[in-house]
Amino acid sequence: MSILISSFLLIATIYDYQHQAMTLLRTLRCGRRGFESFRSSSSFTRGLLTQAHDRGPSEPPLLEQTIPEHFAGVVSKHGDRNAVISRHQRTELTYDALDRKSNALARGLQSIGVKKGDRVSVSLGNNIEFAIATYAIFKLGAVLNPLNPSFNAGQVVSALNHLESSHLIIGTETHLIRKDPRNNTEILKHIAPGIGGKKLEADLVPSLKEIVLVDNSRGRVDPSQLSAAVPFADVQNGSSQETLSDQSLDKNDIVNIQFTSGTTSSPKAACLTHRNILNNGAQIGDRMLLTPDDVVVCPPPLFHCFGCILGYMATATHGSSIVFPSEAFDPEASLRAVQEYRGTALYGVATMFLAELELIANGVVPNEGFQHLRTGIAAGSSVPAELMRKLHKILNLEELTICYGMTETSPVSCMTRTDDPIKKRIDTVGRLLPHVECKVVDPSDPTTTLPINTRGELATSGYLVMEEYFNDPLKTREALIPDPHDPTKIWMLTGDEAFMDEEGYVSITGRIKDLIIRGGENIHPLEIENCLLGHEGVREVSVVGLPDERYGEVVAAFVVRNKDATLEAGEVGEWVRERLSGHLVPKYVFWVQDYPKTASGKIQKFILKEDGIRMLKEGKGL
Ligand SMILES: *[C@@H]1O[C@H](CO)[C@@H](O)[C@H](O)[C@H]1NC(C)=O
Ligand SMILES: *[C@@H]1O[C@H](CO)[C@@H](O)[C@H](O)[C@H]1NC(C)=O
Repeated sequence: MSILISSFLLIATIYDYQHQAMTLLRTLRCGRRGFESFRSSSSFTRGLLTQAHDRGPSEPPLLEQTIPEHFAGVVSKHGDRNAVISRHQRTELTYDALDRKSNALARGLQSIGVKKGDRVSVSLGNNIEFAIATYAIFKLGAVLNPLNPSFNAGQVVSALNHLESSHLIIGTETHLIRKDPRNNTEILKHIAPGIGGKKLEADLVPSLKEIVLVDNSRGRVDPSQLSAAVPFADVQNGSSQETLSDQSLDKNDIVNIQFTSGTTSSPKAACLTHRNILNNGAQIGDRMLLTPDDVVVCPPPLFHCFGCILGYMATATHGSSIVFPSEAFDPEASLRAVQEYRGTALYGVATMFLAELELIANGVVPNEGFQHLRTGIAAGSSVPAELMRKLHKILNLEELTICYGMTETSPVSCMTRTDDPIKKRIDTVGRLLPHVECKVVDPSDPTTTLPINTRGELATSGYLVMEEYFNDPLKTREALIPDPHDPTKIWMLTGDEAFMDEEGYVSITGRIKDLIIRGGENIHPLEIENCLLGHEGVREVSVVGLPDERYGEVVAAFVVRNKDATLEAGEVGEWVRERLSGHLVPKYVFWVQDYPKTASGKIQKFILKEDGIRMLKEGKGL
């Protein structure tokens, strides 16, 4: 059986009933399409579950349109409302303006050779150009392939080659978190040695026809060294043609390819269709009760599902605005964006929220102007109860829900609802989105569904499952399993360990492959992590298994201590022994400052494991 890398999202929203009722009323007045029914299929129509297998609501029906078709409807209804606000560029685009600019860019891209089905790789931070390019590419029926803009030259080359991309849209600079911007001239010269002259000469990437350059350096980089690239502004203004001809798009066309793993040595590129991401975005927005009055502040990156689908597609299907505080995460810019644009929603991973709360606590950003916030998304790791309480109290993020998914499922499959009991919003990732089916199966035999409240591997089916991994039938076959009774139905094995309760709430208990097997006994790292997070000296913790001669594997804890905490390794062990049991006590404790993380903030445990093995060799384990 194959085990897959997923990035799961935990999205938390606290709410209050009154507010929810008001929002609902406001939305109904705005005449938006019907909300999903609040009745759960499991608890209302089929009674309580005995097997861990459930379906989401069947209402509202799925959108059977392409993204540009649906967008046209939003533009005609909400054209004068802000679609995208870029705080760092001091630019606001209404839905009308976004529509016009993306048409113009689409024509310009066409004039430099972008055709339907071509892969256009985009390496940008969160900016207006990225937003315009997204819709231009969708309108052309080309395929948007976001790249992590901090990729080095080798990573960019291997990503472009994997997808045989025809075009690359890239900034003269890459903005990095807490560092000076990176000058991209060197990287571009590596990709296309002729870029300083008249021809690209991109021998390393034979498929590459043009590089489109967004000058985001405010004069820091001299673009004359990059003369063979086409300036973005020229592409946007370059075509005299007025209308974009019909591209005969189909809702089942692939429109977005996302790399799922952080490394490019063995890239897996999930192919998503219009129907996949349009519907997922719309459903996420529905569950957050988004309306055209909402202003969603989005620090997470657009090159990841979190920014692109939970952020961008969720707002654009609801006529809401999205705000980009900065190109790369900056806690101060994020808070200022909320204050200046009266944000009603704030997205982030737990560490982003912690950094923001710290700025408020030490007075760098005044604790005012957050009264419009009502909801938020926290993804990438679970949100400790204490952090939730602070988000509620200080940032007014009253609606705190949890939501779960992976790139291959477009990405969200489970999400808590606004009328779920508070305990469910802390302990579970909620129930299924509409038209989604999930079951918990035996990891050693995916055709066997387990009973409720039993840990196994979560499998997902429905409209949201990706088409395939690009150009990789082997990995696709390993990931997408036909249903034993209905071969037209496909299940995506998530690689995540989970259980489902009798009402269909799903709890994620870890990664199947992160399980530690100590002397034949299964140990769930999350259990130890949650226990240690309860210690006031512990700021963050990640638990992995390290090889051991006697037990096969033993528990190792990588701990970030709170400032001023004088925690010692012995106390860590005692804490676990008293609350859990002896065999769960970490044999090794490593004090660390930070963790290797994916873009969504998920800790890369395989790297921690390598680090742990290396440090033990160097005699550094406590
Ligand atoms: C950017 O990099 C290029 C190539 O290394 C260099 O010539 C140029 O001076 C750099 N620009 C800045 C502003 O550092
Ligand atoms: C592009 O067109 C817009 C509006 O027509 C104009 O304001 C802008 O200066 C033009 N930019 C370039 C680089 O030609």
